[in-house]
Amino acid sequence: MTRPRTPATYFDAMYRDAEDPWSLAERWYERRKYDLTVAALPRPRYRRAFEPGCSVGELTRRLAGRCDAVLACDRVEAAVETARRRTAGLPNVSVHRLLLPEEWPEGSFDLIVLSELLYYLDDATLDAFLRRTVSALEPEGTLVTVHWNHEVADHLTTGDGIARRVGAQPGLVPLADHREPDFVLQVHQKTTAGGHRPAGVAAREGLA
Ligand SMILES: C[S@@+](CC[C@H](N)C(=O)[O-])C[C@H]1O[C@@H](n2cnc3c(N)ncnc32)[C@H](O)[C@@H]1O
Repeated sequence: MTRPRTPATYFDAMYRDAEDPWSLAERWYERRKYDLTVAALPRPRYRRAFEPGCSVGELTRRLAGRCDAVLACDRVEAAVETARRRTAGLPNVSVHRLLLPEEWPEGSFDLIVLSELLYYLDDATLDAFLRRTVSALEPEGTLVTVHWNHEVADHLTTGDGIARRVGAQPGLVPLADHREPDFVLQVHQKTTAGGHRPAGVAAREGLA
């Protein structure tokens, strides 16, 4: 039997005790990981990005530099308020309170970033989340997943476990796979409208 998804009370308690419960703004570990995440994006520029589980908006701020628009969201109102405050100078960012995957935004995206989020979901909810993600991605759109890879009591799976689930999703083609003992960072592309493998970075510039 699979464990149930992490309850609202867990996240509410985290944000009751601290504005930035995971010290995302301060830790060098997090800053380096965010820089690697953004560096792995295969396109210089995106039209519309979706970042579920944005917490206090640290990765959001970095994504804003590469995207015309970023829709960030979190299930906890306190996190949403902090992320809004920290991205207040970025007119291309909007932050909303949404519980995913049940509350899903309208429209499509050419970039979706799932960072340190999916290990809170039980098997059925994770499947539903990934199906909605692939369906909201435009053809040839980019999906980034990046997750802590150590066993943690609060997490239902690891970065390796999530990589297996993402790899099993129809309609996605792997582009990059960066594994460290601490985390797994992967980039997938959605297939073309005709169901084919999208061009790689070099091919898009006529190099290959
Ligand atoms: C560990 S933090 C990661 C923050 C950020 N993505 C990063 O990588 O720095 C996880 C965040 O996801 C949010 N979250 C967890 N489950 C969620 C869900 N089902 N829908 C929306 N947000 C969720 C939590 O409230 C928390 O702020």
